[in-house]
Amino acid sequence: MAKSCIILNFDASFKINFFSGFMNKTIEYIINNKNRFLEELTSLLRIPSVSADSAYKADVAKAADFLADHLKEIGLDKVTVFPTKGHPIVYAEKIIDSSSPTVLVYGHYDVQPADPIELWDSPAFEPVIKKTEIHPEGAIFARGACDDKGQMFMHVKAVEAMLRTGELKCNVKLMIEGEEEVGSVNLEHFITEQKELLKADIILVSDTGMLANDTPSITTGLRGLSYVEVEVTGPNRDLHSGLYGGCVANPINSLAKMIASLHDENNHITIPGFYDKVIELSAEERAMMAQAPFDEGKYKKSIGITAVQGEKGYTTPERGAIRPTLDVNGIWGGYTGEGAKTVIASKAYAKISMRLVPDQHPDEITQLFKNHFESIAEAGTTVEVRPHHGGFPVVTPIDSIAYQAASKAYEQTFGKIPVPVRSGGSIPIIALFESVLGLKTIMMGFGLDSDAIHSPNEHYGLFNYYKGIETIPYFYQYFKELNK
Ligand code: BES
Ligand code: MN
Ligand code: MN
Repeated sequence: MAKSCIILNFDASFKINFFSGFMNKTIEYIINNKNRFLEELTSLLRIPSVSADSAYKADVAKAADFLADHLKEIGLDKVTVFPTKGHPIVYAEKIIDSSSPTVLVYGHYDVQPADPIELWDSPAFEPVIKKTEIHPEGAIFARGACDDKGQMFMHVKAVEAMLRTGELKCNVKLMIEGEEEVGSVNLEHFITEQKELLKADIILVSDTGMLANDTPSITTGLRGLSYVEVEVTGPNRDLHSGLYGGCVANPINSLAKMIASLHDENNHITIPGFYDKVIELSAEERAMMAQAPFDEGKYKKSIGITAVQGEKGYTTPERGAIRPTLDVNGIWGGYTGEGAKTVIASKAYAKISMRLVPDQHPDEITQLFKNHFESIAEAGTTVEVRPHHGGFPVVTPIDSIAYQAASKAYEQTFGKIPVPVRSGGSIPIIALFESVLGLKTIMMGFGLDSDAIHSPNEHYGLFNYYKGIETIPYFYQYFKELNK
């Protein structure tokens, strides 16, 4: 355990500034156990539970077992590792009394692949704590630190603190999956089959972000997703580019032209029908949104760009949350090795994602893309469009009891009322929670955009980890109170 000692020593100086009030025993328990809470997260982060890569299948299972053992140890009931056709789902619950409301916590223990690994300053599955400009108290660096092991584990620790101090006010069920990063296909089957087991009053998720450590926010919307892979085929074999160049369609040139044509000069997407179902926000709603603090200069600086770009007529925060988009996520073909090879490749490929907003339907958008992309194939080529997973957009109400409970919880621990913010990311299962289970979701995210999720050097602030653990119990407290 030498490595965790380094962390313990480092962390000893970091004092959390807890607001006192009620739930005192829970808060005291968190303070007294904060170093152990960090060590335990570190152990979970050491397990490389990459869901996309079958080489890590055993590690994904190990992370599920680690969690299940842990949930048993803290005293939860019905702890089960449900096998699926893919990676397992971990379930646990504590029913304190049937007249209290039930909170269903959702999170994921799987992580994105670590590559490109050469861009990590320290290995992705050997967590280290370092101070950064944004996290002067320190942040834990590892794949999954923020998305979503760190955020999911805050719930486990908050539940532990409430249980151990006898201050758990609601029934709680935890459902933690291992396939969020690959589309949650098996979780969809699971929730369809386990409606009775999953009966609850609200779903609580920490898998999003907040505006800044001094500007708490609650995520009130997510974009949906349509994801496709395209293949352009030209000649039946690779050709000498001197002998054939200029005489035949080059699939890579064609693909580049086709992709370029998907946006017009105003950065509108040119697929016919693409915007038909998009709900435009009212001027009032846009004015509300514009109140959330945003500094374009800082934004550009943080990602090293000199200009922003996007759909004409919309601000950067609007482009990133309430407008649909189309982006190429990967493109390949031809010769990419060392030196030069003069060749016209037979095939070219790209992966393309579209982020969707209400009321766009992922299957409809995929179909519109397919029809359009095939229709613009250049003479002498054939085009194939293969759909991947998709997901519906979500918008959550801000006039509900659950939203009020969350808002009051943040106010308690941050001393500020959180700002409602729609996010640009996607968690496809959340729309299905509503359509299959009939349950609304509250998204209490504590990550920051600068935490580099899905990127090299992903990290999660210790401030954010502890603030989450501290804020969550107040949600239970207020949710119970407001439900009376
Ligand atoms: N937790 C993220 C989504 C997220 C991050 C939403 C930050 C809002 C703010 C989730 O794990 C994720 O990465 N989702 C994927 C989609 C999924 C189907 C692979 C995404 O948004 O690309
Ligand atoms: Mn996530
Ligand atoms: Mn993710």
